[in-house]
Amino acid sequence: MTMPSLHSVRKVKLLLLCGLLLSACQEKAPSYSLSQEELYDPASCASCHPTQHQEWSGSMHAYASEDPVFVAMNARGQRETNGELGNFCINCHAPMAVQLGLSQDGLNLSELPSYAQGVTCYFCHSVESVEGNHNNPLKLADDDVMRGGLKEPMANKAHASRYSKLMDRTQPESAKACGACHDVVTPAGVHLERTFREWQDSLYANEDGGGLTCGSCHMRGQDAAASNVDNSPLRRVHDHAMPAVDLAITSFPEQEAQKAAVQELLDTTLSAELCVTWANDETQLNFTLENVTAGHSFPSGAAHDRRVWVEVVAYQDENVVFSSGLVGEDEALNNIQDTQLWRFGDQIYDDDGHEVHMFWDARSIESNLLPAPTTLLPGTSHYTNTHKLHTYRIDGELPDRVTIGVKFRPIGLDILQDLVDSGDLSAQHLGAFETFNLASSQIEWSTNQAYFSENDGKQTYYECVSP
Ligand code: HEC
Ligand code: HEC
Ligand code: HEC
Ligand code: HEC
Ligand code: HEC
Repeated sequence: MTMPSLHSVRKVKLLLLCGLLLSACQEKAPSYSLSQEELYDPASCASCHPTQHQEWSGSMHAYASEDPVFVAMNARGQRETNGELGNFCINCHAPMAVQLGLSQDGLNLSELPSYAQGVTCYFCHSVESVEGNHNNPLKLADDDVMRGGLKEPMANKAHASRYSKLMDRTQPESAKACGACHDVVTPAGVHLERTFREWQDSLYANEDGGGLTCGSCHMRGQDAAASNVDNSPLRRVHDHAMPAVDLAITSFPEQEAQKAAVQELLDTTLSAELCVTWANDETQLNFTLENVTAGHSFPSGAAHDRRVWVEVVAYQDENVVFSSGLVGEDEALNNIQDTQLWRFGDQIYDDDGHEVHMFWDARSIESNLLPAPTTLLPGTSHYTNTHKLHTYRIDGELPDRVTIGVKFRPIGLDILQDLVDSGDLSAQHLGAFETFNLASSQIEWSTNQAYFSENDGKQTYYECVSP
């Protein structure tokens, strides 16, 4: 004979009690099959919401506290601040560990159940209110009701459901829920990540700009059933993979799909134009870039760790006559000497003005990003703010071929090396990062005789090309 489970013993007791106190039990009896602990666990959702679960499982939300770079940085931060960092990092990277009181500093994450790691289903779908605009001020209801964007959710056996504007990408409130974690202000008061602020300042935050929320762009909709329970109606369901820049650097679900999705997003972010002029024995390469699809600056978020730069090479008879931004696969961008380098990102400094790498050392910030549009009216200064131009000058004859384009590395190799040197990161991860080429910024130009003109016996050249 098998022993009755604790669960069934409880049920029997409950039934006995119910016999005595019928009315009280009708209110109290558990009507849903998932206990609170089971609701915490994304694995409990997979049977009925397999698509959302699969997409989420490969997302950076799922990876947020498993990422070896995160683990290394948090460990180093705790050590270098004598623990003052506390739960600052895990408050966003493993918010359930904080909610459940399972960790004070994230140093024990590997010992915790998986449901306490990363940004989980339960965390997002329990948000009741947003009490601020940075450092995760989200308040959870903890009433076991799963909040979502479905206005009239079908009743189900597993959990109670409720519509919430905070979880509906057609509502501006939803951007506050995402944004609350996507703006970071360090304990020293440096506004290090500003994705939400940038979005609030952009055209997309108001109706004139189409009112595009974070979810409008990052959670693609599709018509399908929201669960695989019988009679689940056709709905608008939303992609939970949320690709942007980062990829898992250790074995993790959905890696290939995530990589393809990141490439696809980055490939359409920018528009570019190259104008080549030649006069008086000087070539000017005027390269213009515009942020066309990001709803915030480009790059955004962890812009202090990102490495975004322009690689340009000019040839004469297949010999390189000029280059800028030529960086070897294993070479850190910050280590190259290049006076003409055009790069985007944030740089952070300590009190003495020395460039630093770590959150907790930052006291000031310098920023060179491609902002999101704030107006649709051409001709106004705000309109042109989103276009940035860089001029490269080359002495001598007009080159016969130029290749140019934007490169994106999720994290600087100098930062990774710094973490390896401090003993916090294993050197095996150094080679794990992609360097993306952004397709819509890649241009190849070659001389076209038709664009030469002659003035007072002097030849000049002018041509503009886009991808
Ligand atoms: C037994 C099946 C089942 C399980 C297990 C299950 N759900 Fe659901 N869930 C449903 C059904 C059915 C709906 C309603 C779908 C509809 O109305 O189209 C739903 C709806 C939802 C909604 C939408 C609510 C709204 O109003 O927008 C969310 C969010 C949700 N579930 C989250 C979860 C999470 C998180 C888990 C795991 C902790 C989970 N579900 C486990 C069946 C299930
Ligand atoms: C509890 C805090 C939290 C909430 C709420 C949250 N995020 Fe995130 N999000 C994170 C963290 C932490 C990461 C970083 C993981 C990493 O890159 O290591 C992340 C990563 C992302 C990424 C991938 C970034 C990259 O570079 O790959 C996107 C896109 C994203 N979030 C969008 C959203 C959207 C849209 C919402 C709202 C529906 C949202 N987030 C809500 C904390 C949060
Ligand atoms: C109009 C579409 C659009 C909107 C609105 C939008 N995003 Fe993005 N987002 C993008 C695109 C495109 C990228 C990829 C380019 C880039 O990295 O900036 C991106 C990148 C990101 C990244 C990675 C940034 C980086 O460079 O490391 C994060 C994080 C992110 N988005 C979060 C958000 C959040 C949070 C919101 C709402 C406050 C939001 N996004 C609103 C289109 C959008
Ligand atoms: C970063 C926050 C976040 C996380 C993590 C998250 N979701 Fe969602 N989810 C949303 C948002 C926002 C929507 C609503 C989109 C809308 O309707 O505009 C949503 C919608 C849903 C829906 C309704 C159907 C649909 O696709 O719109 C279900 C079901 C759901 N999520 C289940 C899950 C499950 C299961 C997990 C974990 C495996 C999960 N979610 C993780 C934010 C999140
Ligand atoms: C307010 C929420 C929040 C806090 C606090 C926070 N992060 Fe993040 N973190 C994010 C978000 C959101 C992203 C994704 C940004 C992006 O894609 O540009 C991210 C990305 C990252 C990444 C991956 C991208 C990169 O920079 O290489 C690492 C590593 C990281 N954070 C480490 C930390 C550490 C260590 C701390 C504490 C010192 C910390 N974070 C504190 C929200 C937070």
